[in-house]
Amino acid sequence: MTPSLRDRVSAPARSDLPPWHKPFQRPAIEFGPAPLTPLAGRIPEGLRGTLYRNGPGRLERGGVPYGHWFDGDGAVLAVRFEGGQARATYRYVQSAAYRQEEAEDRAIFANYGMVPPGPWLGRFNKSLKNAANTSVLPLGDRLLALWEGGRPHALDRDTLETIGEDDLGYLRGSEAFSAHPKVDAKTGAIFNFGLEVGPRPALHIYRLDGAGRLQRRSRLPLKNLSLIHDCVWTGRHLIFCIPPVGMRLLPALLRLESFSEALTWQPEGMTQILVVDGDTLEVTARLEAPPWFQWHFGNGWTEADGAIAFTLCRYDDLATNQHLREIPTGRVRRAAPAQFVEVRIDPAAGRVRSQTVLYDRHCDFPVVGATAVGQRGRYSYLSVHRAEFRRPEDYRQELFGAIACHDAQRETVAIAEAGPGRYPSEPIVAMDRDRNERNWLLSVVYDGNGDQSELWIYDAAAIAQGPHCRLALPGVVPHSFHGIWSPA
Ligand SMILES: [Fe+2]
Repeated sequence: MTPSLRDRVSAPARSDLPPWHKPFQRPAIEFGPAPLTPLAGRIPEGLRGTLYRNGPGRLERGGVPYGHWFDGDGAVLAVRFEGGQARATYRYVQSAAYRQEEAEDRAIFANYGMVPPGPWLGRFNKSLKNAANTSVLPLGDRLLALWEGGRPHALDRDTLETIGEDDLGYLRGSEAFSAHPKVDAKTGAIFNFGLEVGPRPALHIYRLDGAGRLQRRSRLPLKNLSLIHDCVWTGRHLIFCIPPVGMRLLPALLRLESFSEALTWQPEGMTQILVVDGDTLEVTARLEAPPWFQWHFGNGWTEADGAIAFTLCRYDDLATNQHLREIPTGRVRRAAPAQFVEVRIDPAAGRVRSQTVLYDRHCDFPVVGATAVGQRGRYSYLSVHRAEFRRPEDYRQELFGAIACHDAQRETVAIAEAGPGRYPSEPIVAMDRDRNERNWLLSVVYDGNGDQSELWIYDAAAIAQGPHCRLALPGVVPHSFHGIWSPA
């Protein structure tokens, strides 16, 4: 059933759980389109376009909690800026599985972190629910809600009404279209991939023109199945870092355990690095490095001497998957810190030249502005912890409470803390249409003190000054995963 205000009122927040946990305790409520009221400052006139974000809107059905944060049903936020005004809309992605579970008010399907409820005989033939919850990609008059295990869902860009699952004209069978496409800053070409899960795993690579028309595709066989969430675009090459993650495939396919539970970290293994040519979409170099795990890359570029550099948030192992599974429970036992690292590789020599730590405290969600993708840029933005949380045991029970800006030119890191009990989302860079050298940084901030959400707008070159403008959102937007700025 569609969550109502009464559902929220009847489920008071639990005081024994941390302040960031309240949005996990009830389904989010759709809102808008609604105008936004400034709480402080003014909306920049040159900010014209739409911020889209996607993330799990609900993590239970019929009183049964989902198995993992990644299982939450996708809900998309759109905040449209025009003429110094803003209005926001928030809608669930109405996938076929979502509608069926809503109609029956019970969890039915398998998911990344859960097997279908009920006895095994009744669940082994249940399909995987497309959670449509990870990111978004505007294409023409559509907005795609992305999920890495399957096809995207097309939404109306204005209303966010769900049009339906979309094969984009070229996805065949169960081919997936992942949630971290890369858009080249110079050409507008879009690169994406999908992992083929099975006894003969492979990466499907897609190159689209700026309008979303398929230009080329390839299928790259993999030595083994792994967890591949993101990739790098260097302006000339795609880079895939394949961590030594194994999977007990048969138990997962038979729904004896979830995909998440079936994953294993193999510390004796290596992280394989594939260099894929952006024109041919074929592998041109293979390298290996001592094992690490990553969810996200920041950016990549090619140096004059042919070396390739890229940034990422690097974890020692797969413990982060368990950490993220525990977050919706509000009781997080597993700490899993990452560092912001720049890796340099020499594809011709087949070796990793260096790994340099740029920020040594836990961080994730590295992003750059759209005009820097595939080129060496100056600023990278990250989600980080507030200064008082310095050690893994300090922030094990905390979500990110600050945004960091790494300045590659000055080799400095500026931090914007949101304050106690406030949790900024992944920051998104938006260019000012009147002053193209000026960027804004947008973050949806959940305030656990008042149980409300706001949109904060920072001057992207001076985040330590605090937000330039704060806007009240009409309802709570739960902690989300990824978004994009679509200029007007
Ligand atoms: Fe991601």
